[in-house]
Formats: sequence, C-alpha cells, structure tokens
Amino acid sequence: MIFDTHAHYDDEQFDEDREKLLLSLKENNIGRVVNIGANIQSTKSTVALTKKYPFIYGAVGVHPSDAGEMNEEVLAWLKSLTDLDKIAAVGEIGLDYYWDKEEDVRENQKRWFIRQLQMARECGLPVSIHSRDAAKDTLDIMKEYGKDLGGVIHCFSYSVEMAREYVKMGYYIGIGGVVTFKNAKAIKEVVADIPLERIVVETDCPYLAPVPNRGKRNSSLNLPWVIRAISEIKGIPEETVEAVTWENAIALYRMNDV
Ligand code: NI
Repeated sequence: MIFDTHAHYDDEQFDEDREKLLLSLKENNIGRVVNIGANIQSTKSTVALTKKYPFIYGAVGVHPSDAGEMNEEVLAWLKSLTDLDKIAAVGEIGLDYYWDKEEDVRENQKRWFIRQLQMARECGLPVSIHSRDAAKDTLDIMKEYGKDLGGVIHCFSYSVEMAREYVKMGYYIGIGGVVTFKNAKAIKEVVADIPLERIVVETDCPYLAPVPNRGKRNSSLNLPWVIRAISEIKGIPEETVEAVTWENAIALYRMNDV
C-alpha cells in the first residue's frame, strides 16, 4: 500500500468530487493519507476530514505565507488540537521567501516558525517542514530548535548536501511529483544519494502532479508515478520502494497501529 504523507484534500479544487475520490483511494492501493493544515481555515477542514474518513490523519499548523494570521490565541488553539487522536504532526510550518521579500515579513515568518517548533516539542509531535528559497535560515532554525524533534522536510527542493544535513538530524525527505520532471536534476540527485529508509512519498495535491499528468489537478492516485521514478533512479523494484516508504511514513508519524 502507498502512504500519501502530504495532501490538501480540503482545497476547493476537490469540492466537486471529494467524497467520490477519497472513497476510491483504498481500491487503488492508497492506504493512508495525512492532510496538512496550512492556515486557520485549512486546519479546521483538516480536523473535519480526519473525523469523517478513517484513513485520513491530519497535521495542524500555519504555513509561512500565512504567518500574518498568527497570534498567541491562534497558537493556543493549534496546541489544543494536537490532543485529538488523529492529529499526527505539526505542519506545515517553515519559511517561504519566494513571495515575501520584505525583512519584517520574513522576521515574522521566523518568529512563528520557531514558536510552532516549540509547540511541537511541548506536544511530542513530529513536524512537517515547508521551505522555499530559504535554505540557510531554515537549516539554522532547525539546528537550534528542531534537532531531534523528528519529522519530514516536505517537497524537498534543495541540494544533496542540504538533504544530508537533515538526514543526519533524523528527518525524512518528502518526495513528490517534481521527481518525474525532466529538468528536475537536483531532486533526482538527492533521491540517488540518500538512503531509501529516509524517503517518504507525497502529493502536495492538488498541486505538483507528476508526469504524465503534469499541470493537471493532482491526487494520491498519481503516486505510482512518483514511486516508479524513485525505483528507476535507485535501481530497485517498485514494490520495494512502495513497502519501504510505507514503513517510513508509519515511523515518521509514529503510527503503531499497523
Ligand atoms: Ni503543502
């Protein structure tokens, strides 16, 4: 079975057929999904999805691009949600400098990234890290506040050296549709370099659909393309990639029930 470690099924792109799609996952070998909160609204929707579908688990958190909506009250509310049975992680949290160029906005991102890392530590949960165009600041903060927390660097987009740093700290590397893109040289090198035991697969759906569905709405049904790409890069059977990444995801989210 395949484990989708990072999905956004609360997204409005699924409004038309969410129920039908989610109920078709099991028969298509998708055994478990972690839906990831990215702001207040999507965290609420994530909690609702975990209550409705037995195979959906959740992560609660506020994404750096939405750090503007964070305050002490929101943080306390997020923390209260971590007590729920099926909340498996804090995320997605991190830094995203792609859109936010102003120094004060970046400082605010850092502040709430650190606070949510501290919250994860207090709650004993792993973290799902989002980092875009912010390699050095993310690593610095992770070294100071994220060491031994455990978790995943989702949609990994940095160098082999950077991947090794996170693997050394005990983190998993999230691999999604980008690994199938022809020009995605860096991520193919990362997959070749790090042990399969540190890789988990993810969609980040509705975004980042793999080839041959690139540009279309993504869903967990596309994960076999990601598994195939990893198997080709590493020269090991697809069945092995599927089985090992499943076990990795169970370990990452500390699910001892399967
Ligand atoms: Ni995401």
